[in-house]
Amino acid sequence: MSKPFYITTPLYYVNAKPHIGHAYTTVLCDAFARFERFMGERDVFFMTGTDEHGEKIAEAAAESGQENQAFVDGIVPHFKSLWQSLGISYDYFIRTTDMQHKEIVQTILRDLVKKGDIYKGEYKGWYCTPCESFWTQSQLVENKCPDCQRDVTEIIEHNYFFKLAKYQDFLLQYFKEHAGFVIPKSKSNEVVSFLQNPLEDLCITRPKARLSWGIPFPDDEEYVVYVWFDALINYISGVHYSKDEKKFKQLWPADVHMIGKDILRQHAVYWPIMLKAIGVDMPKVIVAHGWWTIQGAKMSKSRKNIVDPVELVKIYGVDPIRYYLLNEVILGNDGAYSEDLLIQKYNTDLANDLGNLMHRVFAMLKKYYQGEVPKHYVKKDAELPALMTSMIQEVSDALRQKMNPQDATGAIWKRVRRLNQFVEETKPWTLAKDEKQKPALANFMYTCLESLRMIGCLLYPFLPSTSDKMRALLKVADQPMNASSQIWGQLSEGVVLEPGEPLFPRLEVEESTDQA
Ligand code: MSP
Repeated sequence: MSKPFYITTPLYYVNAKPHIGHAYTTVLCDAFARFERFMGERDVFFMTGTDEHGEKIAEAAAESGQENQAFVDGIVPHFKSLWQSLGISYDYFIRTTDMQHKEIVQTILRDLVKKGDIYKGEYKGWYCTPCESFWTQSQLVENKCPDCQRDVTEIIEHNYFFKLAKYQDFLLQYFKEHAGFVIPKSKSNEVVSFLQNPLEDLCITRPKARLSWGIPFPDDEEYVVYVWFDALINYISGVHYSKDEKKFKQLWPADVHMIGKDILRQHAVYWPIMLKAIGVDMPKVIVAHGWWTIQGAKMSKSRKNIVDPVELVKIYGVDPIRYYLLNEVILGNDGAYSEDLLIQKYNTDLANDLGNLMHRVFAMLKKYYQGEVPKHYVKKDAELPALMTSMIQEVSDALRQKMNPQDATGAIWKRVRRLNQFVEETKPWTLAKDEKQKPALANFMYTCLESLRMIGCLLYPFLPSTSDKMRALLKVADQPMNASSQIWGQLSEGVVLEPGEPLFPRLEVEESTDQA
């Protein structure tokens, strides 16, 4: 078996109020991870977790009257239960307060100090507290933080620096030689153009006097490590870098770092340079997705415009939310969140196209065959079987080649729509009236049911609970859930099936619920 597929989300700030922007990064990763498990060609290691150090978190802990560690310990279960409610199948949940992570960060710092890539110097610059980012004077936009346009504070102090500049030429060259290192292309271009200007070394500590909630800088107790330097290391500490070489070599390099476009610089500049400095291979791909926006502004806690995924799941169920996130935007583009559109998509794609189809086919099976899957003569190379059999390749190309879950779900819905047409074209209600058409009716019935079986199986990466429901109704829930399910002809004749509850009861919309 080849190297496991290793995919990561960023680490979520533990004090973030999770919204659908966060859910998006994680649902994307989940779909990729589940798809790879489905293909069964390699093991999967899907890691997510929480970023738990830094000034903002210490402030939030103080506000809540708790010790820092107790504060973060109290929040992590909420993240885990959010991911559970969204059907996220992560394999490992890493926390930056984990002992192993802290030790590995310190090991790396010691190595870099020894190598001369970290030095102590004077820091003069501007700090944006909400973004936890330092900026030079030239980076400020109208004297405000270039990321969030808020006020910044001037800071002059001694700190440790990491020699980013030393590796600038290496990184530029790496981008030249690895065209797909950052996708989409527009984001890669942004990084390359950023690298045209001289890089400044990165200030990677904070004096303890100013901030104590962080990993202690090794051998100098006056300092703690800057959160970004600490957090990025999770991608290798989570797979036992420097602790267990065998396991590390099995999993590293990561196949995909999924991130939002706001954290591109940290992932596509700092992180590769950190890896180069410690002699570790680059991740294979960094995928930068766009933002979910409301009225043109990025959804975020500080803008008070967030949409809570837990509430949405309570109202619509988990799969409609996953479907909306995966299918609504092309990975890389921004998406304007709209609850009206979510409802519209639910009613058209889920309730009408898929839910109704399932309902109609089961109702016909009951009416014409008392629920028993009929004996049939459908040839594997007939139009519908061939179309169904080619589905997995299309889904695979969309995900693996194009990193495009919209096209992947689109490939499935193309089949769902074709099946609906097939029902209309075949007019089974007329076939049923004519004794001579009995074989044609049986073929029609089998074609629909077997197609639904294949669709139900391949929905697993995207809509796992719908996949479970469909497979249960088709009585194939115990069959292997992998690529072998995509071979035509596995639904047995003679099995008796019962129509169940509608998969997606239609939503009656009275008035606009949109916040946009
Ligand atoms: N803690 C850092 C990441 C460290 S990784 C070593 C961080 N955390 S975050 O909680 O602010 O963001 C986590 C992820 O959510 C990021 O990928 C970010 O881009 C994504 N999103 C946050 N708001 C978003 C939207 N409004 N829309 C889409 N994704 C956005 O950054």
